[in-house]
Amino acid sequence: MKALWGGRFKKEMHPLLKEFSYSLNVDWELFDAEIAVDIAWAKMLGHIGIITQDESAKLVNGLKAISKELQPVDPNAPFEDVHTLIQTHLEKKIGNVAKKIHTGRSRNDLVVTSTRIYLKQKISEIDAALKKTETALLHTAQKAGDGIVAGVTHLRKAQPILLAHHLLAYVAMLDEDRSRLNDLLKRVDVLPLGSAALAGSSLPIDQKFLAKELSFSKIAGNSLAAVSDRGFLTEFLSDLAILWVHLSRLSEDFILWNSEFFNYVEIDDAFATGSSLMPQKKNPDVFELIRGRTGSIFGHLQALLTVQKGLPLSYNRDLQEDKPAVFDAARKTKLALEILSETLSTISFNKEAFKKSVAEDHLFSTDLLEYLVRKKVPFSEAHETVGKIVRHAEEAGKNLSQLPVKIWQQFSEYFESDVLDLFKPETSVEAKKTKGSTNPTFVKAERTKWEKALK
Ligand code: ARG
Repeated sequence: MKALWGGRFKKEMHPLLKEFSYSLNVDWELFDAEIAVDIAWAKMLGHIGIITQDESAKLVNGLKAISKELQPVDPNAPFEDVHTLIQTHLEKKIGNVAKKIHTGRSRNDLVVTSTRIYLKQKISEIDAALKKTETALLHTAQKAGDGIVAGVTHLRKAQPILLAHHLLAYVAMLDEDRSRLNDLLKRVDVLPLGSAALAGSSLPIDQKFLAKELSFSKIAGNSLAAVSDRGFLTEFLSDLAILWVHLSRLSEDFILWNSEFFNYVEIDDAFATGSSLMPQKKNPDVFELIRGRTGSIFGHLQALLTVQKGLPLSYNRDLQEDKPAVFDAARKTKLALEILSETLSTISFNKEAFKKSVAEDHLFSTDLLEYLVRKKVPFSEAHETVGKIVRHAEEAGKNLSQLPVKIWQQFSEYFESDVLDLFKPETSVEAKKTKGSTNPTFVKAERTKWEKALK
């Protein structure tokens, strides 16, 4: 195979260097984007008259033909990279005129242009997959209905909450992730072509023409930054790292809820796995794999940051190492969101376990505190009083709701017989008044909001 740069070399490349440096096994994923760039480039060269219209048409037709013939691209074909693969096949297909396609450009500007096109496509695919996951979560919240569970902080029972409220928290978090990815689009939407290897071109390259053909709304303002900065990819991996934090936390919650200790959810058999030794086991591997795979996404971000630090401007071959990280993260993200949507859609709830979780009087301590505050007892004093009652009940080996009103009044004169009405999960959640709270009316309104937004 002939390289795109052989002229000044007397010797063939050492086979080890080939193995070490060739990148087709990774950058074949840019094939479609690269063909699109090449077609736009061939048209532009004809448009500015640096090649004839006839040559331009030959290039375009040749590119269209090999684009079909080379699919599916063989990642192990013996070519240095995707650029060389295309150039070589184009020469075979249409002969010498193919040698004009690379006029006025370098692989430095080419690879980053194709990567930007690839990334726009991946952002849109991940956006769609995220929307599907949000919709699945919303359906799960509908199934949970008004079911109340013990909300936890520090994994200790805190206050009653709607399980639907907990699920909608993840809809809100994933929706923020979606908007972060969409914000990034405006920084991806910059055309690097015309930068050539680093300094720009003395040929009359028509960048506006190219931007229009390739749907870029801006042209890079600095050729050195255009070929050598990977801020847009770093931001993509940062956005994915944040998204995976959310996916991992969601997974952890489902793993807990699926455990015998919580027992809130049942995973459909099609999305669970067994044990080779213990016949009774049914395990939540989808959630565990998401939680585990989060590690490799963080690793990719760390790798990309480290690859760039200390690189002198402009292009350095180190930058080739951006693609394995970005491609793998994009692939893993899409797949994880797809399996998560399916798994969530088939989950069922064990509402008896919900009830068990809230059958505990301590959960209403904050309601007791706010009862006193409504009667104008200073907050800290009320806190102290309820704390003392909790301790008293514990020492007496009783539940709070078993204490007679007489005892309550020994701790505060403001307690009346209605204090005993507070020990109901429904009363507790319905008492919440703030926007965003777990009050069933607000939770229902949130559900309706998301139903509309995700339509
Ligand atoms: N494979 C390279 C990359 O991914 C393409 C650009 C190579 N440029 C060069 N001068 N060797 O960055």
